[in-house]
Amino acid sequence: MRILAIETSCDETAMALVECGGDHEEPQFSVLAEVVASQIETHRPFGGVVPSLAKREHLKNLPLVLDELAEKLKANPSTLLRASEADRIAVTIGPGLEPALWTGVNFANELAQKFGVPCIGANHLEGHLFSNWLGGKAITLPAIVLLVSGGHTALIFMESMREWRRLGETRDDAAGEAFDKVAKMLGLPYPGGPEVEKLARDGNPSAIAFPRPMLHSGDYYFSFSGLKTSVLYYLRERPEQLLTNNYQLTTNVCASFQAAAIDVLCVKALRAAEEYGAQSLMVCGGVAGNTALRDALRASAAERGIAFHAPDMRYNTDNAVMIAAAAYLGNEYPTDAPQANLNI
Ligand code: KG4
Ligand code: ZN
Repeated sequence: MRILAIETSCDETAMALVECGGDHEEPQFSVLAEVVASQIETHRPFGGVVPSLAKREHLKNLPLVLDELAEKLKANPSTLLRASEADRIAVTIGPGLEPALWTGVNFANELAQKFGVPCIGANHLEGHLFSNWLGGKAITLPAIVLLVSGGHTALIFMESMREWRRLGETRDDAAGEAFDKVAKMLGLPYPGGPEVEKLARDGNPSAIAFPRPMLHSGDYYFSFSGLKTSVLYYLRERPEQLLTNNYQLTTNVCASFQAAAIDVLCVKALRAAEEYGAQSLMVCGGVAGNTALRDALRASAAERGIAFHAPDMRYNTDNAVMIAAAAYLGNEYPTDAPQANLNI
């Protein structure tokens, strides 16, 4: 089955034509062409995503991205396919920014009508969940999945390819959001996650004892707003150092904040893996691009004899290939209207 997938939930306009095959136990994905048009430069001056600008950019980008996808298909002699030869269209219907979601949903419905194929809605979080299957690796279930993105932080128990449920999530900020906010406090550009990670490499993770919120809460919920506020107070007490752009202070704050965030994510993910008898531990979402987080999860899983998996680096952040996977393996949703607060 060839799925043309469209993703516009936040600040990436993405499209992909993916050949999906195999059954739920052994799915196979072959990416025929994919395009991601990032709006990072548009939102950067505002330090975060502005929904009305995201909508405007998606509306502008959607036809251009479709043209680019068609060009890529033409340039790939092994496929001899056009976007219009898709068997179905899949579109992210949520969760996400409502004005941004509408642009993708409307575009997808119109295209499906034009091509005479069905249009189905896909859950963005299921997309992140199934991004671990895009590389064709065999993953043994049951598994615990740590989903860490700019909008969500959740621990998911995946019993089988058809059954998964959320064990807990963040009570306030998402992990990626905390990275972005700390970066902003330090005057670093949006998105802050990669910037904080880069600077953390030069810092001392034990320099500042930031709190590990809810580490011992006994459940699978998270909270990152207290950690973010601790960073804010720490910086407020040292304004003169910040004014002089103190490199050591910046790198130590980045390293110590990152260590605290990773500690909580790692300890809770492993505790869940043990309690639920998981054979595998997976991470996904934008923050899964953080190498220190991957290394910590891999090491802790190895100590307990649990397999560790993370998506190919290009599928951590938002993309349409994972939306094709969600449409193939996950739930099907109606496409009459977006569901901005959809969960997993
Ligand atoms: O999954 P994603 O592309 O969008 C959402 O669905 O939210 O995730 C984007 C988030 C941003 O908050 C970004 O700062 C964070 O992922 N991120 C990182 C890293 N790369 C991206 N956070 C920490 N370390 C990274 N290397
Ligand atoms: Zn995402």
